[in-house]
Amino acid sequence: MVNRASSVLITGANRGVGLELTRQYVAAGWRVHACCRNPTGAELLRDVLLGHDGVIHPLDVSDHQSIHDLKDALEEEPLDVLINNAGIFGGDHQSFGDMDYAAWAETLETNTFGPYRLIEALLDNVEAGRSAKVINISSGMGSITNYVRGGDYIYRTSKTALTMVTLNLAYDLKDRGIIFAAFHPGWVQTDMGGAAADLTAQESAAALKSSIDGLTSDRNGAYLNYDGATIPW
Ligand SMILES: NC(=O)c1ccc[n+]([C@@H]2O[C@H](COP(=O)([O-])OP(=O)(O)OC[C@H]3O[C@@H](n4cnc5c(N)ncnc54)[C@H](OP(=O)(O)O)[C@@H]3O)[C@@H](O)[C@H]2O)c1
Repeated sequence: MVNRASSVLITGANRGVGLELTRQYVAAGWRVHACCRNPTGAELLRDVLLGHDGVIHPLDVSDHQSIHDLKDALEEEPLDVLINNAGIFGGDHQSFGDMDYAAWAETLETNTFGPYRLIEALLDNVEAGRSAKVINISSGMGSITNYVRGGDYIYRTSKTALTMVTLNLAYDLKDRGIIFAAFHPGWVQTDMGGAAADLTAQESAAALKSSIDGLTSDRNGAYLNYDGATIPW
């Protein structure tokens, strides 16, 4: 067997949780395929990858052609882990009586269809990987059981749907040897989470990486907190 470094592909790798995941995977000696919409503007990402085994790929997860181009660039390269991290909140107009339907469509395209499209396109690469894990970064706000307050229709529905996509894939592809899991990264200090959030991006990414490293096939289809605890649907 060829002796190669473990490999991971991360979407939305230029800032926030995705950038920190990238930093921690390259520091651990992984080969990282770091995807972002605008590689020329991704100075922080370039700094993180400097001196490490990392490749930056342009990727807009809401664009079929962009995903197609990424598949062409990867060819048959094995991916041990695919992390669908890229996501948007959907803006300020998502309460009853004040709904931005265009933003709702864009958010579903990005948060729900995007990960699904990428998994369809790269499934052979993941199947060829050693550990073969697909991680969808969902949100606790997508939990129906833990529902605490109204509003945020756009974001909640996109993440609840992503979690269901994860469970469906785990069921449909259970004979392919791939582990699928949806993770809540915590409330994180990023552009999306804001400065008052509980966790730094470093703390969230470290806990996520540790939980992903330890993920075993008995958790296939699980909806998990960043620390590995189960989240009720
Ligand atoms: N922060 C939190 O408290 C929190 C809580 C629960 C779940 N999450 C989830 O965690 C993930 C990471 O969030 P974050 O806090 O790191 O958010 P963030 O700081 O706002 O970063 C979002 C990332 O997604 C990328 N992105 C957005 N739309 C994209 C598209 N169409 N194609 C490719 N990339 C796209 C952004 O790229 P650009 O720079 O090009 O915009 C950016 O890299 C998201 O899925 C989010 O929903 C976050």
